[in-house]
Amino acid sequence: MADTKEQRILNYVLQNAVRGDPQSAIDAIDKYCGEKEWAMHVGDEKGAIVDKVVTETNPSTCLELGTYCGYSAVRVSRLLKSGAQLLTIENCPPHAAIAQQMVDFAGVQDKVKVLQGASQEIIPKLKKEHGVDTLDFVFIDHWGKGYAPDTKLLEECGLLKAGSVLLADNVVYPGAPEFLEYVRNSGRYDCTHFPSHLEYSTKEDALEKAVYRG
Ligand SMILES: C[S@@+](CC[C@H](N)C(=O)[O-])C[C@H]1O[C@@H](n2cnc3c(N)ncnc32)[C@H](O)[C@@H]1O
Repeated sequence: MADTKEQRILNYVLQNAVRGDPQSAIDAIDKYCGEKEWAMHVGDEKGAIVDKVVTETNPSTCLELGTYCGYSAVRVSRLLKSGAQLLTIENCPPHAAIAQQMVDFAGVQDKVKVLQGASQEIIPKLKKEHGVDTLDFVFIDHWGKGYAPDTKLLEECGLLKAGSVLLADNVVYPGAPEFLEYVRNSGRYDCTHFPSHLEYSTKEDALEKAVYRG
């Protein structure tokens, strides 16, 4: 097994968290990345904002762009009601493999489907190949330059409806200026900015919530 940071994070969870307890997996990742090695999970501080938005939205069908090790997938899925699901897209095969193991260990495998591939290739297949009608909640956290084109792709593919909630991470650092420009000025979204800090750091960052008007 490759000795990558992602594998070390998974190993720490396997050795220190409780199988089947998603909160203990989240806590273990936050402890490891806060104390040992920084990593690009949304983290505990912004994670609390994600929790609040998910809880308020009470979604049935969720999509995540950018799974990484599965931290946010476990985080979001632990709040989902019975029968709700999260599809999460990750284009890096080793990350997708780690995330699947994280999801399985945390016991949320019935709620989370990890899809390996590029967002721009999988989004157009969500309806036909993955049975999605429309999305209630989308966590956008893959690659700043991809946020705006993938948002437009979600619209074009008929995956958004009035009230669909997009929540984008890292809109200040590293930043997603094209996305912010689009959702704030297209007239198609109602936006809320949530100032916060980059995961496991004091650097300024923020989440942007954009609710589709339909
Ligand atoms: C910031 S990390 C995601 C963190 C994760 N959401 C969390 O909070 O635990 C970004 C991930 O997106 C993936 N990624 C980048 N571009 C992508 C694309 N076009 N499609 C799917 N995944 C992508 C990267 O490989 C990386 O694992």
